[in-house]
Amino acid sequence: MKFFIDTANVDEIIEANDMGIISGVTTNPSLIAREGRDYMEVLKEISEIVDGPISGEVKATTTDCRGMVEEGEAIAAIHQNMVVKIPMTDEGLKAIKILEREGIRTNCTLIFSSNQALLAAAAGASYVSLFLGRIDDINMHGIDLVRELSEIFSVGGVKTEIIAASIRNTIHVTDCALAGADIATVPYKILMQMVSPPLTDAGIVKFQEDYRAVFGDK
Ligand code: G3P
Repeated sequence: MKFFIDTANVDEIIEANDMGIISGVTTNPSLIAREGRDYMEVLKEISEIVDGPISGEVKATTTDCRGMVEEGEAIAAIHQNMVVKIPMTDEGLKAIKILEREGIRTNCTLIFSSNQALLAAAAGASYVSLFLGRIDDINMHGIDLVRELSEIFSVGGVKTEIIAASIRNTIHVTDCALAGADIATVPYKILMQMVSPPLTDAGIVKFQEDYRAVFGDK
């Protein structure tokens, strides 16, 4: 399973990229709005940092196929690594079909069922984003969707890649790897929790104490 980082914060992206752990970035309108910066400028800056797929979503207020295609073309023009994120709607599916035929990769987002993912794949989406945490929020098991869709795509030989999104904790990440997700897109805070769980931090402190007790600061 590959890792993307799920953020529009450039500092977080640089940190994760420097560690060599991410092969792409996903953003969404909420994440970019949180940065308080120009929408397209943020996407451009991210595309100059990470050499891998960068998902930039059409504006949340654009809901018609024509508008999404126009915005998708503008996002794709930023950099060859840009992937256009399109919401899972009837108009969104039309836009995915057109953009993919133009050679522009798409990531169909806000997917909550295997049937939605199958439709997105049929329309030609390169990626589907399953919102694991938001399924958990309604007292259902989001990971079951990742497992079910992995099996469906594997049996059917579907090439569309599964992105597990809305990851809320480190267990989600392990579960996604076990369930067969191609990619987990993970917030920076959770990536850092994966790097340094408390036992590793405590182990480093103990090694330092024991070392200093005998060798000092040499
Ligand atoms: O990539 C989608 C993701 O950012 C949504 O996460 O935590 O808002 O459900 P969340």
